[in-house]
Amino acid sequence: MSQESTLKPPFFISREEELQLRIAADQLPLSPVITAPTSFDDFARQLMIPNTVMELARKASSIHFSAWETEAIRQSLHAGILKQILDEKGQKDTSHPPYIRVACTGKGDYDDWVLDQNPHLHVESDQEHKGDYGSPVVLEIWPAGHYSPIHSHGSTTGIVYCLTGQIEVMAYDSLAWDAKKLALITLTPGQCAWLNDQHFAVHKVYCPMPEGNFAATFHVYLNKSELPLLLKSSGTPNTRDIFEFVDENAPHELGQFETYSDLSWKLLRREMSRIAADLM
Ligand SMILES: [Fe+2]
Repeated sequence: MSQESTLKPPFFISREEELQLRIAADQLPLSPVITAPTSFDDFARQLMIPNTVMELARKASSIHFSAWETEAIRQSLHAGILKQILDEKGQKDTSHPPYIRVACTGKGDYDDWVLDQNPHLHVESDQEHKGDYGSPVVLEIWPAGHYSPIHSHGSTTGIVYCLTGQIEVMAYDSLAWDAKKLALITLTPGQCAWLNDQHFAVHKVYCPMPEGNFAATFHVYLNKSELPLLLKSSGTPNTRDIFEFVDENAPHELGQFETYSDLSWKLLRREMSRIAADLM
């Protein structure tokens, strides 16, 4: 039996490797996490993080979900539109347990499902996608135990900010199934991971929480052409329109996913308000 078959998804690592990767995350000269420094070491390891990234993190630092918003998302994951979307996505792609992408700009593939709450009318459309891709600001919802494949963010610069729950991010040195694992970090609310074309661009995200819980993360991705002082133009493949990933199923070939959103924030708010009204 190969070692991989004895190790479990999402990261296929032993307890010893996990510990080493967590220690590595704390010892990399450049910290993969942005958090309020509590020691000189923390400060030194965050000092060389690019200013653009620090600025994104600073701008995100006071956003949060209120208690009712968190509860409404939990309810929707249990018995609302978010559950229906997860079921649908899980059937379409069985390679990994799905997560939900909510676009803060543009339209989502399943926006119509919120507008029409009757699930019997949720027929498959011929179009594969009805929404938009390439939103620079995305809210992602991760039910307990769900995860992404290993994927690359190309040449974008961005942050993954934990809003609620807990999320694990494994950073890899390249985009391949057997890529070297660099570090494993856990984000709790208020902490953020970052990436650019030079650092931490390839990762896998996992929600390690107990069944029934979820995490929500807030993502910002800037294309090179949008970075101040970095006015080089960039082609579509390395922008946030398309990210590349490694298929979770053997033979673990590389693929591309257009970053279509499942829902728009406006319509998720509508779903949350409906649930809140029902609870009152
Ligand atoms: Fe990602």
